[in-house]
Amino acid sequence: MMVVEWKWLRFIRMALMLLVLEGCRWCTTNACLEHERTALLRLKPFFNYGNQLQSWVEVKGSDCCKWERVECNTTTRRLIQLSLNSTKWEDNMEYDMDNRNLNAWYLNASMFLPFEELKSLYLSGNAIGGNLENEGFGKLASTLSNLEILDLSENYLNDSILLSLSELSSLWYLDLSDNKFERSSHLRDGTQLSLTNLEELDLSDNLFRNNTISFLQGLSSLKSLTLYGNDLQGSLDTKGLSNLTNLKKLDLSENQIESFQSIKDGGRILELTHLEELYLDGNLFNTSVFASLNKLSNLKSLSIRGNELKGSIDMKDLDAFINLRELYMSYNELKDLVIHQGIYIF
Ligand SMILES: *[C@@H]1O[C@H](CO)[C@@H](O)[C@H](O)[C@H]1NC(C)=O
Ligand SMILES: *[C@@H]1O[C@H](CO)[C@@H](O)[C@H](O)[C@H]1NC(C)=O
Ligand SMILES: *[C@@H]1O[C@H](CO)[C@@H](O)[C@H](O)[C@H]1NC(C)=O
Ligand SMILES: *[C@@H]1O[C@H](CO)[C@@H](O)[C@H](O)[C@H]1NC(C)=O
Ligand SMILES: *[C@@H]1O[C@H](CO)[C@@H](O)[C@H](O)[C@H]1NC(C)=O
Ligand SMILES: *[C@@H]1O[C@H](CO)[C@@H](O)[C@H](O)[C@H]1NC(C)=O
Ligand SMILES: *[C@@H]1O[C@H](CO)[C@@H](O)[C@H](O)[C@H]1NC(C)=O
Repeated sequence: MMVVEWKWLRFIRMALMLLVLEGCRWCTTNACLEHERTALLRLKPFFNYGNQLQSWVEVKGSDCCKWERVECNTTTRRLIQLSLNSTKWEDNMEYDMDNRNLNAWYLNASMFLPFEELKSLYLSGNAIGGNLENEGFGKLASTLSNLEILDLSENYLNDSILLSLSELSSLWYLDLSDNKFERSSHLRDGTQLSLTNLEELDLSDNLFRNNTISFLQGLSSLKSLTLYGNDLQGSLDTKGLSNLTNLKKLDLSENQIESFQSIKDGGRILELTHLEELYLDGNLFNTSVFASLNKLSNLKSLSIRGNELKGSIDMKDLDAFINLRELYMSYNELKDLVIHQGIYIF
C-alpha cells in the first residue's frame, strides 16, 4: 500500500517538474505580455501595407511572440526584435521637386515605449519623413536601454531627427542610409552625433557635402563608417574623421573627392592607425593619394578603382603599407604595373 502511494507521489512530482521545465507550453501565462500585445496592435494600422501583419490579431490570449516580424526572448517572453521593414509602402507615391515624398508621414516613437527589452528595431523602407513633434526617438532613451540595432534606411528622414537619435546611447549599429541627411547649415555648428557605444554607422546615399562630416567626432567607438554615394567634393576636410581612432573600415566610394585636405596641416586622416579597409572607388583621386595615406600602417585592403590614377605609381609609395594584402586599382589609366612583393594588385 505504502509503496504504491510513493510511486504515485513520485509520478506527480515528475509531471509537475516536466511542466515547469517545458516552459508550461499550454499555460496562457506563457504568452507574451498583454501590454506588449496591445502596443503591437496599436502599431498595426501604421505598418500593415498589403496586409503583411495578418497574424497580428485582436484575440485575447493570442501569443504575440508567434506573430510575424516579432521575436521574443524565450525566457522572459518580452519582445527583443521588431522587423517593421517595408511594411508601409503605398502605391501612387508622389514626389516634389527635391524628390521629397509627398506621402511621407510622421512617426510617433513613443509607440515603442512598452517594448522595454527591445534590442533590434528595423524600420527601413517605410516613407517616414520624421517624428511627430515631441515624440522623437530620444524619448526611448531611458526606457529602451537595451536597444542596440536601429535600421532607419530608405526613408525620407533629414537632419531634424539627428539630435533626438543622439540620445540613444545604447546603440551599437545605426543604419541611416538612403535618406535626406545633409548636415545643412541651419543646424548650428558644433552639433555632435555623440553615440559613444556606436560601432557601425551607415550614412550612404544621403546628401552630405564637403565639410559637413565634423559632427561625427564624438563617435569614439566607431569601427565601421560608410559615406558611400554622397556629395563630398574636392579636398575633403577630414576633421570629422580624426577622432575616430578605433575605425577599422571606412567607405568613401562614389563621391567626388580629389584629395584629403588636412594632409597639408599635419594629416589628420593619417591618425586612423587601426584602419584595415579603405574604399575610395569612384572618386577623383590622382596618384598623390598614396603619399597622403602612408601612415595607415595597419591597412590590409585598399580599393581605389575608377579614379584619376594616371601613368605609373612610384612603388616606394606602397612601402609604407606594411600590412597591405589587397590593392584594387582597375578602371584607372595606369601603365607599367609592377607586382609589389606581398600585395595582390587587382
Ligand atoms: C533572455 O532573458 C534572459 C533573462 O533576462 C537573459 O539572461 C538572456 O540573455 C536573454 N536572451 C536573449 C537571447 O536575449
Ligand atoms: C527585414 O529586416 C530583417 C533584418 O534585416 C531581414 O532579415 C528581413 O529579410 C527584412 N524583411 C523584409 C520584408 O524586407
Ligand atoms: C504618441 O503615442 C503615445 C503612446 O501611444 C501617446 O500617448 C501619445 O499621445 C502619442 N502622441 C501623439 C502626438 O499622437
Ligand atoms: C526636415 O524635415 C522636416 C519634417 O519633414 C521639415 O519640416 C523640414 O523643413 C526639413 N528640413 C530640411 C532642411 O529639409
Ligand atoms: C577630438 O579629439 C580631440 C583631441 O584628442 C579632443 O580634444 C576633442 O575633445 C575630441 N572631440 C570630441 C567631440 O570627442
Ligand atoms: C571642400 O572644402 C575644402 C576645405 O574647406 C576646400 O578647400 C575645397 O575647395 C572644398 N571643395 C568644394 C568643392 O567645395
Ligand atoms: C593631384 O591632385 C591634387 C589635389 O587635387 C593636386 O594638387 C595635384 O596637382 C594633382 N597631381 C597631379 C600629378 O595631377
